[in-house]
Amino acid sequence: MSVSRGGFSSRIGFIMAAAGSAVGLGNIWGFPTQTAGNGGAAFVLVYLVLAFCLAYPAFMAELLIGRYGQANAVTSLQKMSKRPWQKHFAFVVGFGGIICASLILSFYGIIAGWMMSYAVEPVFTVVGLTSIAEWVISQDLVRNLLFTVLFMFMTVYIIRRGVEQGIEKWSKRLMPMMLGLLVLLIIYVVNQEGASEGLQAYLNPDISRVLEPDLLVSALGQAFFSLSLGTSVMVIYGSYISKKENLVTLGAQVTLIDVSIAFLAGLLIIPAMYVAQAQGVAIFAEDGSLISGSSLVFTVLPTLFDSMGSMGLFIGFAFFVLMSIAALTSSISMLEGPVSYAVERHNIAREKATTLIGVLILLISIVIVFNISFMLDMVAMIATQYGQPIIAMLCCVFVGWIWQRNELLNEIKLGNETVENGLFWKVWPWYTKFVCPIAIAMVFIHSL
Ligand code: PHE
Repeated sequence: MSVSRGGFSSRIGFIMAAAGSAVGLGNIWGFPTQTAGNGGAAFVLVYLVLAFCLAYPAFMAELLIGRYGQANAVTSLQKMSKRPWQKHFAFVVGFGGIICASLILSFYGIIAGWMMSYAVEPVFTVVGLTSIAEWVISQDLVRNLLFTVLFMFMTVYIIRRGVEQGIEKWSKRLMPMMLGLLVLLIIYVVNQEGASEGLQAYLNPDISRVLEPDLLVSALGQAFFSLSLGTSVMVIYGSYISKKENLVTLGAQVTLIDVSIAFLAGLLIIPAMYVAQAQGVAIFAEDGSLISGSSLVFTVLPTLFDSMGSMGLFIGFAFFVLMSIAALTSSISMLEGPVSYAVERHNIAREKATTLIGVLILLISIVIVFNISFMLDMVAMIATQYGQPIIAMLCCVFVGWIWQRNELLNEIKLGNETVENGLFWKVWPWYTKFVCPIAIAMVFIHSL
């Protein structure tokens, strides 16, 4: 272990960074739209259960792998491996996660770019540059390229500065801002006409749907995406935590923050849809389901903001700034996976490695932008529906079956003297060995 690899300087630094990774477009866009499309609170209930019973244990597996290994995902997994085949297997799992993170970043950066473009639109409108304002929210190719490049530039800028001066410092600045904006927006929206109907749609469960297999699959996918699992991200963030910290509690706190912010985002988006309806905007698709996905964020909400006059300009600005910030604290974590690998395994200087990998991923984004109609969904599907569950499952297999049991228990005990009296100690090791891999595999197979 090299002393110069850096790490989080404080507990709060880790919490902000890991929560920053977890909280992203998945929470503020994905979760509310999935909830709207899947029977409201029924989806929320299933999501909560799966997030704590499956995603949290898998999340802990990744954090522990990293903290034990004190290195990038491949090296950390290889440190747990004793036999040659295990080392090869470790490479496949670790590198697979890194590829997965890179692929996610390649499409995430495009969508984040759209968020940024919608954030600057009201600014151009206010200063009277209406034709530019129209252009930045058009489907224009150059506009897509420009904002993707801008967003990637910001991501690279932060990661070049390293863990403490980059990831930690910016997460500590951006996360409170994001939360503040979210709360302000909720207060504003729930006081508008029509919002109470939205709250009802959100919080009234249609219990009959709770056991629908498709709902389970969507909720689990959402939970895994949200906790950034199967992408090497939590392994590398785990590796930057001090051995003195109580990982079990930290992991639980991050999960709680992630789930709570998704819930709060629901309190914003779903009432906002019904406020839009009260203003005459259509919020139901032809088949009677609520409009979701990109048309919700880029059509329904902007129409709503437009209808609010000058206040709407401000609200729209705040909303898309919120989205952009949430996306940025996630995208930096995606880039850190491959960068830490290049730095530690190939001895490339961090700044150089960051720029190189950033450009490489940007090239993939550009290819996607040129073929946006089919490639965006395709890459997203490969990375999130196949890559993430498979790699996350293999991480559980690694922890349960390959890691020496005494080493594992020892790692759990670090920074946590009373852990042996608690539930985690008794349940988690066998749970991760048997229940997690099987449950993830079952849901994954169903999703095929
Ligand atoms: N968790 C992030 C979100 O919800 C996305 C993400 C996925 C971040 C994978 C890192 C790795 O938007």
